[in-house]
Amino acid sequence: MLLTRTIAETRAVIADARTQGKRIGFVPTMGYLHEGHLKLIDIAKGHSDFVVVSIFVNPTQFSPTEDFAKYPRDFERDRRLCESRGTDLIFAPEVSEIYPERSLITLQIEKLADRLCGMRRPGHFNGVLLVVSKLFNIVQPNVAVFGQKDAQQLTIIKRFVQDLNFPVRIIAAPTVRESDGLAMSSRNIYLSPEQRAQSTVLYQALQRAKTLIEAGQRDAQKIVLEMQQLIATASEAKIDYIEIVSVSDLQPVKRLDGERQVLIALAVYFGRARLIDNIVLKIS
Ligand code: PAF
Repeated sequence: MLLTRTIAETRAVIADARTQGKRIGFVPTMGYLHEGHLKLIDIAKGHSDFVVVSIFVNPTQFSPTEDFAKYPRDFERDRRLCESRGTDLIFAPEVSEIYPERSLITLQIEKLADRLCGMRRPGHFNGVLLVVSKLFNIVQPNVAVFGQKDAQQLTIIKRFVQDLNFPVRIIAAPTVRESDGLAMSSRNIYLSPEQRAQSTVLYQALQRAKTLIEAGQRDAQKIVLEMQQLIATASEAKIDYIEIVSVSDLQPVKRLDGERQVLIALAVYFGRARLIDNIVLKIS
C-alpha cells in the first residue's frame, strides 16, 4: 500500500495505475475509520482495480462552533485498517496542500441543502462539495463510494456530479450498524457509556416508523410524533430534527401516498455527539 501527502505525488501514482489499464475506485473519508468505511473500501474494490482512500478532515465543512479541531484522528490505526482491506493508495494531505490559500471560488447548492442537516449546518454542504470537487480533480476516479448514512450528502453528490458533468460513477453503500442497531460513526467515540446505551433508541425509532407505515399509517406528522415520543424516553437525547422527505428532491412529504421512495431521517444530540441516521422506504 502506498501513501502520498501531496497532490503531485498522488497524480503521478494514479497516472501510473491508469497506464496499466487499471480502473480507479475512490473512497473519500475524514479518517478515524470504522467498519462502515471499510465496507466502502470493499465495495470500491469490487468496482475497480486500484483503490484510493483519502483521509482528510476538511475544515471548510465545519462551522466555527463545530468540532473541527476535536474531530477524532488516529492516522496509524487508519493506515493499518486500510492496508488490511487491500487499499492501494492512501492520500492524506495537510490542510495547506488542499487549501494553500482561501478559495475564492465556492460552490453553492440550491434547494437540496435547504432541509435536514443542510438547514441546521449552513454552508456545510458547500464545504463538502468544494473538497469533493478538489479530490475528484486530483484522483479522477472512475467510481467513488459514499455511505447511505449521510443520505443528504449522497443525494447532493449525485446531483453535483450530474450537474457539473464529472465523469465518475457514484455508488451508494448501505449503512453499517453495531449489533444493537446504532449506525457506525466516527463521532460515536464522543458517547459516554450511558449515552451509548441510550443511543439505540434512534434505530428503534426508525424501525417504529417502518412498522407504522407497513401497518398503513400514511400521515407523516403522526409518524414523526411517535418517533419523537420514543426518542424522548432517552433522557440524554436532544432531537435536532426528524423529517420525512422525498428521496429524489429531499422535499417534505405530508402524506405517504402514491408510488414513491421516502427518506426518514433524524439528527439527535447525545451530549456533544450529534448522531444522524435514516432509512429509505418504498411506498406502494
Ligand atoms: O462523508 C465524509 O466523511 C465527508 O463529508 C467527505 C465526503 C469525506 C468530505 O470531506
